[in-house]
Amino acid sequence: MSGYADVYQYWLNNKEEFWAKAAEKISWSKKWDEVYTPNDGPYGRWFKGGQCNTAYNCLDRHVKDRPGQAAIVYHSQMTGEVKSISYEDLRDEVATFAAVLRDKGVTKGDRVIIYMPMIPEAAVAMLACARIGAVHSVVFGGFAADELAIRINDCSPKLIVAASCGLEPNRVVEYKPLIDKAIDLADHKVDGTIIYQRPGQSAASLGENDADWDSLMDKAKAAGNKADCVELDATDPLYILYTSGTTGKPKGVLRDHGGHMVALQWTMQNIYGIAPGEVMWAASDVGWVVGHSYIVYGPLLQGATTILYEGKPVGTPDAGIFWRVIEQHGVNILFTAPTAIRAIKREDPEGEKIQESDLSSMRALFLAGERADPDTIDWAGRCLNMPVIDHWWQTETAWAITAIPFGLEKVPPKIGSSNLPMPGYDVTILDEGGNPLQRGEIGAITVKLPLPPGCAPTLWGDDNRYKQSYLTNYPGYYETADAGYIDEDGYVYVMARTDDVINVAGHRLSTGAMEEVIASHKDVAECAVFGIQDQLKGQLPLGVIVLNNGVDRSAEEIEKEVVNLVREKIGPVAAFKTAITIERLPKTRSGKILRGTMRKIADGEDYNMPATIDDPAILDELTDVFAPKLNKAT
Ligand code: COA
Ligand code: AMP
Repeated sequence: MSGYADVYQYWLNNKEEFWAKAAEKISWSKKWDEVYTPNDGPYGRWFKGGQCNTAYNCLDRHVKDRPGQAAIVYHSQMTGEVKSISYEDLRDEVATFAAVLRDKGVTKGDRVIIYMPMIPEAAVAMLACARIGAVHSVVFGGFAADELAIRINDCSPKLIVAASCGLEPNRVVEYKPLIDKAIDLADHKVDGTIIYQRPGQSAASLGENDADWDSLMDKAKAAGNKADCVELDATDPLYILYTSGTTGKPKGVLRDHGGHMVALQWTMQNIYGIAPGEVMWAASDVGWVVGHSYIVYGPLLQGATTILYEGKPVGTPDAGIFWRVIEQHGVNILFTAPTAIRAIKREDPEGEKIQESDLSSMRALFLAGERADPDTIDWAGRCLNMPVIDHWWQTETAWAITAIPFGLEKVPPKIGSSNLPMPGYDVTILDEGGNPLQRGEIGAITVKLPLPPGCAPTLWGDDNRYKQSYLTNYPGYYETADAGYIDEDGYVYVMARTDDVINVAGHRLSTGAMEEVIASHKDVAECAVFGIQDQLKGQLPLGVIVLNNGVDRSAEEIEKEVVNLVREKIGPVAAFKTAITIERLPKTRSGKILRGTMRKIADGEDYNMPATIDDPAILDELTDVFAPKLNKAT
């Protein structure tokens, strides 16, 4: 059994055996009682009764076999620092910081929020939590204080571990004021913070509940204070990662220890084809699931070297930086979002900078986070002269639902498709009534339960929301909230979301959350937010607002305030730059706002007049209002 088709078929017929075999690659302190337990949690749990520790599997078990090998290569284009951290040194840093956390009263099951940029300390903090069984929740630096406060309230952390600042090309993002504001806003009170003061940057001022990372680490090192790995149940939580849902309240996606390790290690070998000792670079951020899975956990579980890159694909300093990093560090596999490749292509359309670097170490480019448009894949394939593989996954799954199993068999990818279902995922397209559709027919993309190891078993503290969000509309299936089809050869095409989530520069954002913020503006009577096409970022949010009667200030002034409000409440990552005032919102007779029709008008697409529209004249009004404003905005 060697090829994709055989392995997929074997998995389909022997699901538990398949994962039990994959689990042999992980070190367990106690073997599981059952590979899969159906009657536990919303749909079941993997490896119940097993005991293990993710930090042990990522670090300790490699130290002897990989002397001198870098676990992490930190490459910052923002500070100019480049350094390698060996497995042994990383294990020691992690064990020391784990002792610091323990001495701060953090114990198994406690939550710790990590709010850090792309620096090695972020990975140290994550692994230190794993070491002592604390549950980390990393919050992306581009989110504002209010979003941080929502997460503090939801997961009630004991501590926040943060850096003094993040570095964006156009500004320094001071984290401490954001944290102080979030702590003020949140009902849950954290015990305190640990702040890593970034060298060379102005130091954050620390209050009585704030401790300095370096001082704590120096003290712990002087005392030889290190924490051992705690034995954990395979089903114990490793982390919570918040992701956008349809409402303003993000979903706390939960990940466990055992199944997550088994799945990620399988993917390193079979999807990415990375052997121990090789080099993987996921050019993402530790604040996203890609960063969790393929900057931190996946490569380390496999005994590979991971590149932790702080910078952008362009502008830091130019569009050749990705290729120079690949040459400098001998990267074997690059994984990034299509938007990053589009940004590079825009600056270097002929791919001249690609030719300036020696990319002989690199075997393939993997793309995910949003649909990879055929132009981008085609351009990258031509310039790089290697396979460019789109693969599709979600925060909820932690690893690819569909991909090319490049390490297992180099099946040809199809441009425009996110490729083939991976073992673990029985992908089924259903119509609205839950009936399976024929090949080629578009419908809701679902996965027949159970989901494989690594996928979220539930949402933090909210089994009901999990069931409601994913398991209710199509009983027996996991609803991905993506729509698409499967072709004659079994390749999956992911075309659109079926909910109010949009995808901006590979970042998943909730239009509902933005609407909630805009609606809180005192002069706004009604609003709607939807995603419009953008050549660089894939989609951009557009807000339309209707003002209250009697508002006597200019619409332009209010539009600016609305834009600022979204940036202040959700954060710059929302990339919300355009609000347009209209007289009234188009609605159905039952009062449903016609966001889809507005989106088509804004994108200049043809649309059918919805049969149930309340007043068809509104749509002509919109065409007149949108065209000049959107031309100006883009
Ligand atoms: N901390 C603080 N602010 C951040 C941030 C962070 N970690 N990351 C982004 N931001 C800010 C940006 O500075 C920008 O602010 P601005 O409005 O003042 O310009 C805003 O959030 C929007 O960021 P982004 O959408 O990323 O746009 P950009 O113009 O900074 O960069 C790309 C555009 C295409 C280069 C960039 O989006 C990119 O590299 N994307 C890769 C996507 C990715 O890694 N996705 C993860 C899933 S694989
Ligand atoms: P996130 O949870 O942030 O990873 O976002 C997941 C969502 O991004 C998916 O549900 C899709 O809508 C979209 N997405 C991610 N990867 C792809 C892809 N390769 N093709 C199409 N859509 C994708």
